[in-house]
Amino acid sequence: MASSVAPLALSASAAAIRENPKRIGVGKRGDNLFFKGKAFGRVRMAVAVNVSRFESVTMAPPDPILGVSEAFKADTSDVKLNLGVGAYRTEELQPYVLNVVRKAENLMLERGENKEYLPIEGLAAFNKVTADLLFGANNIVVQEGKVATVQSLSGTGSLRLAAAFIQRYFPDAKVLISSPTWGNHKNIFNDARVPWSEYRYYDPRTVGLDFDGMLADIKAAPDGSFVLLHGCAHNPTGIDPTPEQWNKLADIIQDKNHIPFFDVAYQGFASGSLDTDAYSVRLFVERGLELLVAQSYSKNLGLYAERIGAINVVCSSSDAAARVKSQLKRLARPMYSNPPVHGARIVANVVGDPTLFNEWKQEMELMAGRIKNVRQRLFDYLSRKDKSGKDWSFILKQIGMFSFTGLNKAQSEHMTNKWHVYMTKDGRISLAGLSLSKCEYLADAIIDSFHNVS
Ligand SMILES: Cc1ncc(COP(=O)(O)O)c(C=O)c1O
Repeated sequence: MASSVAPLALSASAAAIRENPKRIGVGKRGDNLFFKGKAFGRVRMAVAVNVSRFESVTMAPPDPILGVSEAFKADTSDVKLNLGVGAYRTEELQPYVLNVVRKAENLMLERGENKEYLPIEGLAAFNKVTADLLFGANNIVVQEGKVATVQSLSGTGSLRLAAAFIQRYFPDAKVLISSPTWGNHKNIFNDARVPWSEYRYYDPRTVGLDFDGMLADIKAAPDGSFVLLHGCAHNPTGIDPTPEQWNKLADIIQDKNHIPFFDVAYQGFASGSLDTDAYSVRLFVERGLELLVAQSYSKNLGLYAERIGAINVVCSSSDAAARVKSQLKRLARPMYSNPPVHGARIVANVVGDPTLFNEWKQEMELMAGRIKNVRQRLFDYLSRKDKSGKDWSFILKQIGMFSFTGLNKAQSEHMTNKWHVYMTKDGRISLAGLSLSKCEYLADAIIDSFHNVS
């Protein structure tokens, strides 16, 4: 009679078995390991150990930003606050779907639009309005067809597509990124195998811009480098150059033959005005520079999960723009084939319709206004309650969704461990996740962490 075999998965000891199979009494048959069992009467026992082919895959660390939300969910405290991820919340701290988005979606339902594939470059109506919104509809580069616009997977996907383009066509160039910057920038360029280095940006002594350091580092970089710039509302610091400083930056970048690469994730969200927030990009375009701009509608239209954005490459001729666009499409095709349609239609409907466009601007002003109000309230409480005489006015000088508190890693951890305030370890808090009624609690937490943790 054939011996029977009882397979059992013993995952915990798999590594030990692999290291020393003989001592443990294990044999190998194909890809399976077997305990060499004793014969008991006529039944022979053997235990198969399923060793995963993925044994060498190590556990990845949680994402420094999205991991904060996971930790927040697991906390059962009533007072907990999630100031980690940059997503807008109402005064009741609930997610918000804009009224204009609902209206645009209703229109789409009424029209009964189909779900056919989009072309690789995305929805034509979206690509038109997104470039108009960014550069201004009357901008000469738009009118003369000098912009290659490709709809992509929100800001991240647009940056990633541009990174693949840089890797393919500028293999010797490096990208200069601000120190600090949005955490995903480094991941994007690393994965695209684009070398990068940092330029100084943040001055911890003033909790402000280290403009001289920034200029010096951009000047010292090899000619023809790409310079990644946050178009407005710098993430994580909330500190933007002034118009005069943008002009000086443009001078240096032009002298050095660098290629500006703008990341515009907050147009309209920083100041409440779409035009004011496009100042930096339009200035560089006016000067005749060729440049790249990644756009996102996650924040300003609250379309986080729709993954809608674009990469725009401004070229010095329409002919170059056509060639660049063809290559962007060629890169996109094997990555994700073509982009999703739903968010593109929402943007096209809102930006392309004068009534909805005006309503959007009003809603955006409301959102930006709410964030400005909590910023002011937080500053008021910090100044009133902190008796040490520390100057907290840097909070009011910052702009956009975020505030860089100047808290270090240990102090930020204390905010979470003692006060249940969830934030990134670099001291950044998202004011979009704060309500007026929670400002006093947050101020107490910041004062305690700042003074009592070294
Ligand atoms: C500076 C910056 N760039 C790009 C993004 C991309 O966001 P998304 O991929 O959701 O558009 C973000 C989001 O937080 C950001 O802060």
